[in-house]
Amino acid sequence: MYEKELASAILTKTGQEVESLFEKPKDSKMGDLALPCFRLAKTMHKAPQLIAEELAPIINEEAFVSNVEVVNGYVNIRFNREEMAKIALTNLNKENIAQSNEGNGKTITIDYSSVNIAKPFHIGHLSSTVIGGALYRIFKHLGYNVVGVNHLGDWGTQFGKLIVATKKWSSLEEVQQNGIVFLNGLYVRFHQEAKDHPEYEDEARAEFKKIEDGDADAIKYYEVFKKITLEEVGKVYDRLKIKFDSYNGEAFYNDKMEACLDILKDKKLLIESDGAQIVDLSEYGMPPCLLVRSDGATLYATRDIACAYYRAKEYDFYKNLYVVAYQQNLHFKQIFKVLELMGFAKYADCEHIAFGMVSLEDGAMSTREGRVVWLKDVLDQAVEKARAIINEKNPDLEGKEKVAESVGIGSVVFSVLYNQRIKDIAFSYDKVLNFDGETAPYIQYAYARCKSILRKAVDIKLDNIDASLITDEESYDIVKSILNFKDEVQNAALAREPYIVSRHIMNLVGKFNRFYIDHRIIDQEENIKKARLALVSLTAKVIKEGLTLLGIDAPEVM
Ligand code: ARG
Repeated sequence: MYEKELASAILTKTGQEVESLFEKPKDSKMGDLALPCFRLAKTMHKAPQLIAEELAPIINEEAFVSNVEVVNGYVNIRFNREEMAKIALTNLNKENIAQSNEGNGKTITIDYSSVNIAKPFHIGHLSSTVIGGALYRIFKHLGYNVVGVNHLGDWGTQFGKLIVATKKWSSLEEVQQNGIVFLNGLYVRFHQEAKDHPEYEDEARAEFKKIEDGDADAIKYYEVFKKITLEEVGKVYDRLKIKFDSYNGEAFYNDKMEACLDILKDKKLLIESDGAQIVDLSEYGMPPCLLVRSDGATLYATRDIACAYYRAKEYDFYKNLYVVAYQQNLHFKQIFKVLELMGFAKYADCEHIAFGMVSLEDGAMSTREGRVVWLKDVLDQAVEKARAIINEKNPDLEGKEKVAESVGIGSVVFSVLYNQRIKDIAFSYDKVLNFDGETAPYIQYAYARCKSILRKAVDIKLDNIDASLITDEESYDIVKSILNFKDEVQNAALAREPYIVSRHIMNLVGKFNRFYIDHRIIDQEENIKKARLALVSLTAKVIKEGLTLLGIDAPEVM
């Protein structure tokens, strides 16, 4: 906030570029902004303290600065609180505070969730789904044209295995009736029985070959498996507020790889190795990228190469993001390198948005013994626990069921979005649902509190507000947080890190709760009441906008 204005004034007067040097003191008692001058000593050939003394008056000239102080090579800057409050109040009638059109004219493709057909939609897909979903909404909020792609894992030998299993131990009708868990049971059984019957593997390969060759019967099975999986994950997507613009998965690229392999051949990049075709990446310190197996089959990587070309042509993307676990770091490094070597113009605009692992802390849901933790079950459990907490805390709450869903799901989503992507998460229901912890319910509760205060004052019009009445420490902290919100959403987009939004609203809630303890709002002199209500209204707005970006509901009552 305002670093730009100050930096440009300093640039004009001294020729020094300082924008990146500003620091925000944690505690606003220390001031609003600080400019450490140590790094300027080299270019300005002076001691930092002297530089600070030279820059301080330039900063002080700005209207929104109320005073500056030079201490140990720092310029400590204080803003004019009333001016700041006035600016914050201009947001009262805006629908959204952080919305912008900076992304207009630019398309971002985001590949996320990208589930595998006929395989369980398990807790491992949670992060990709919710991080991708949050980035999708954040970029949209900033005016980008966003294309959400579910790059389905809808090709591979698992389909052959499933056909064999279905034919041996069930029927297509039964599978259709019973859905995904049943289908997965068949898959598991196939693997168990194939240990004693290695010939099943050959049968499975033969069945998959039929799909590849376009055999109508085999394709019927394939389509049913796909439909069942998509129906099931679709329900989870609805609960998580996740949408896709395209479901073009791996199978979609079946007829698009040849052209890419031709480019590689033309450029003499594709070389034979034990009958397989690879791109040698040893020069770049990576193992070779395998693109065609010795039996002629293409691979995951081959499809991703074709996919990058397709997205560039189809969407003319500005950035092409892949929200995929860090286990695939090497895969993406390899394909980005291959794309570069091929002369793919936009290779540098492809980014792997990696994230860490989610494990379950609660013993009751262990992944051991190959037991799959279905994402649906995790959501159901969280909702059930949320329901129990609500029944205990507020049994008469209206619309309890809906609130339980919002809190339960929100708590799971928030737990993924509250830390840097790359951190591993040990998930525990008690932790994510702790109403006093750094959790979704804690934020949702604060929002409901704001709304309840505002309901008590519906007949008060929030206009002609005296900004000087919200310049005390606690109010000013909230004002700053409101003003910073837009920057933080932009930062989140830039870093592809939704946690920046989560932390911001968590911080705001902390500030609001402090304000709420220290200041009475309703039984106050009219002007003070109005000013404080305005602050409450703005706080609610930011919380709701932030939660919405994260894909979390903000119930009006809790
Ligand atoms: N289906 C893959 C998996 O579950 C993720 C696909 C990611 N997207 C991509 N274009 N490679 O591991």
